[in-house]
Formats: sequence, structure tokens, C-alpha cells
Amino acid sequence: AALAGCSRPADGPGTGELLASELPLPQRFRVPLPIPPVARPVKVTAGTDHYVVTQRAATVELIPGTKTRIWGYDGIFPGPTFRGRRGRRMVVTVRNELPVPTSTHLHGGVTPAESDGFPTDLILPAGYSPAPPGHHSAAGRHHDGTRDYHYPMTQRAATLWYHDHRMDFTGPQVWRGLAGLFLVTDEVEDALPLPRDDRDLPLLICDRSFGADGSLTYPQRDMTRPGADGMFHAGIFGDVILVNGAPWPRAEVAAVRHRLRLVNGSNARRYRLSLSAGTITQIGSDAGLLATALPREDVLLAPGERCDVIADFTGLPAGTEVTMGNALGEGPAADVMRFVITGPAADDSRIPERLSALPVLEKTRAVTERQFDFRFGGGRWTINDQPYDPAATLCSVREGTVELWRFTSDFHHPVHVHMAHFQVLSRGGAGPDPGDAGWKDTVDVRPYETVQVLVDFTGHRGRYMLHCHNLEHEDMAMMANFDIV
Ligand code: C2O
Ligand code: CU
Repeated sequence: AALAGCSRPADGPGTGELLASELPLPQRFRVPLPIPPVARPVKVTAGTDHYVVTQRAATVELIPGTKTRIWGYDGIFPGPTFRGRRGRRMVVTVRNELPVPTSTHLHGGVTPAESDGFPTDLILPAGYSPAPPGHHSAAGRHHDGTRDYHYPMTQRAATLWYHDHRMDFTGPQVWRGLAGLFLVTDEVEDALPLPRDDRDLPLLICDRSFGADGSLTYPQRDMTRPGADGMFHAGIFGDVILVNGAPWPRAEVAAVRHRLRLVNGSNARRYRLSLSAGTITQIGSDAGLLATALPREDVLLAPGERCDVIADFTGLPAGTEVTMGNALGEGPAADVMRFVITGPAADDSRIPERLSALPVLEKTRAVTERQFDFRFGGGRWTINDQPYDPAATLCSVREGTVELWRFTSDFHHPVHVHMAHFQVLSRGGAGPDPGDAGWKDTVDVRPYETVQVLVDFTGHRGRYMLHCHNLEHEDMAMMANFDIV
């Protein structure tokens, strides 16, 4: 069988098929940039903050003048932003009032296995029937209507995000709105003179398509089988770029430094982001601050990846329009959002020489080497020729050790490892790319490329997973379990 719309170039937007909206596309750079509300704890006890969030259907206005039915955490998209503090435990009670099972994963979280959002560890809608297919329940645990996720927050400051992770349905359920931001802070970061408050902007970037009635459209056919045309889905692209849920928004900003926390929350689309004026300097990646700042021309972000940058608008005259563009997008997808400079303002922020202590993992630390081959075969997206089996495990690793993992691929596969963070050792036989710097949990493996990473399994024991973060590949079985023992 053939693959739908595969693109082979090493720097393409990814592999997939573009869904065209049936609505006239909204005008770009008109809607003000929304900032998702911050979740407030319902109870604060010694050392622990308790939260409650409800997954429900809601009708919202994403496109001006158009009503869209979404599935959202607390009925909004993106969901509320959680703010975690290193050293304070969090318990998040998730209530599922949707008609479908869900599972919530904190992406980048150093989370105990029971709270990691395993794809078969489901919150069933109260009184859900019929029961899910047998192979799901064999490996999974089920919670009726509600459950608690425990986040110990032992990790360093970082830009994380959370999203649905239900087996076989992550793509459609995230597409409908089940995702949000989760920011971790700590004392190391507090002590730095970085831009803060309203000059610290989280930007969850994703693409969507809209039906004539304003609905979020997603292919109805079974993603695990070829369509009538004999084609498999290789990933779903939308033609509307949303930032924090708004189409091509605009933000009015003073001519000063701003921190932009870039998060690629798209199902399959990759971005190469740049600004039409000002400069960008990277200060952090997936799992927190870099050791030292890194000037960047542009930033490549595959699905699931984050990049923390300082955008410096200093000296730009009032009225200057600074467009964030996407060099991998065509037509409207080549634009992301716009900053409009209001004028000069006081700015006591700066980019410090040294950002954080970041021990560089040496290859000699690796106790084992393993290879994971991400490939299309037998009608599935597989890892080491195996389609995902929630009851099986590919390997066992020892808690507290470092291993060298080698990822190989046939297409673009953003490879994500749960719980364990890693450092990129090499890419395509050469050194890492600039964008591979720091602690990562997701790495973009390009077609026919080998990426070697050193993975640190310090944290928790139990069953975790690695998978492709192209959500359609993930739903078509490109996932595998590993045990930390
Ligand atoms: Cu962001 Cu296992 O996923
Ligand atoms: Cu993939």
C-alpha cells in the first residue's frame, strides 16, 4: 500500500495529508493573543497542592464569529495552564465528562508510572458501555469517571505540556482540544534576570481545520486501515495555525526582551520558526534551561518539542510589525503570529552568561546500547518491526543508569521517551544540531537518519513507553513499552 502524501525531503513539514477548511480562512494577525488561565489549587496542604480539572465538551469561539464544539480540560482550548513548583507535590484530579475514555499524560514529567497516563490506564466516562475491547482491558486499569494523578515535582524548571494519551485515539482527541500547558518553576530560574510576568509568553502552536459549520474536522475513517484509496494516513495537517487557540494572533508588546516558550502541540506538523525583526536567543529546551544561551536564526520544532527563547525587540520603533514565520509552511501556514511594537519601555531583564548547571553526559557512562527502528511495515507504523502491544515490553533498564539509545527511521519521526530525559550525542553521523541542545524528551529523527541519545533513567521504576509523537503514527501503533527496574 502507498503512503498518503509522503514527503521525503530532509527538512519538509513532515509526512501527512492536508485537510482543507470548508470555512473561509480568518484574516491573519487580527485576534489578540489569548493567554490560557492559570489553574488554581482547590486545596493546599503541607507540601502538596491539589487541583481539579474536568474534561468536557463545550462550544467556544476559536475563529471570530464562528462557534466550534471542542473537548477541553475545563471546557477550554488550550486547557488551563498548571504551574508546578519544584519541591511541592501536586495532585490533579481529572474528571471525565466526555462520552469517551481518556488518559492524561504530563509530557516531560518525571512522573511515577501509575500517574504517567499510560494509553490503557483509562478514565472511563461514568457508566461507560460498551466495555473497551479485550486487549485494552488486559493491560489497562480503569477508573470510573474520575482519578487522581500524582506529580512529585522533583524536576527542574521547564516548559511541559499535558495532553490526552488514549490508545488508538490520541490524534483525534488532542485534535478536538485535549491539551494544555504545564510550567514548572524553581529557585535556580527565579534567581535569573529573565523577562517575567506579562513578558513571559507561553505559545502553544498547533494546526487545525474547520468544517463549514465551524467544527474541528478530522478524518472519520479507521486510522489503522488504509482508506478506500488504499492509502494510509501518515499524519494530519490543518490549514489554520492556532497559537493558544487563536488563529494567527497578534500581540502588542513593548520594544523590550520577551521570553517565548514555544511548544509544538500539532498532531504532525513541523515548524521552522523565525522572527522578521529583532533577535532570538535560545535559553531552554524540552526539559529546562540550557547551560548557556544560544543565539538562533530560527528554531525547528517537531510535534511534542519545546524551545524556550528570548525575543529581543529592543530598539524597534513603535508600530513595527514583527511576524513569526514558519519556513516549512506553505501559503497561510507560512505565518504563525505577529508582534506589534507599542514603543520603548524600561527593561531590567538580561540574558545571563550562565543559565543553569547542566552536567554533560559522557558516552562512557552508558551501560548498554540499544537500537529502536521506526518504520512503516505490514500496514502499521512499527518500532523494531513490532506494532504496539500494551502488554509487551521491548526492554528492561535499570533505574539510575544511563543507556545509549540509537533511533533509526524511514520518515520524519519525532521520538518521545516518557519519564527519562536524554541528551543528543550525534545526528546522522555528525554532532548534534543546535536545536538538540540541553535535556530533551523528544527528538526529531529525520528520514533515513540515525540519532544517538544518552538517556538518564533516574527517577521512578515501572512501565513506561517511547513512541513517535506524530499522533497519527502513534495511533497506528508506533509505540513501545520499556520497564525501569
Ligand atoms: Cu506527548 Cu507519550 O506523549
Ligand atoms: Cu512517526
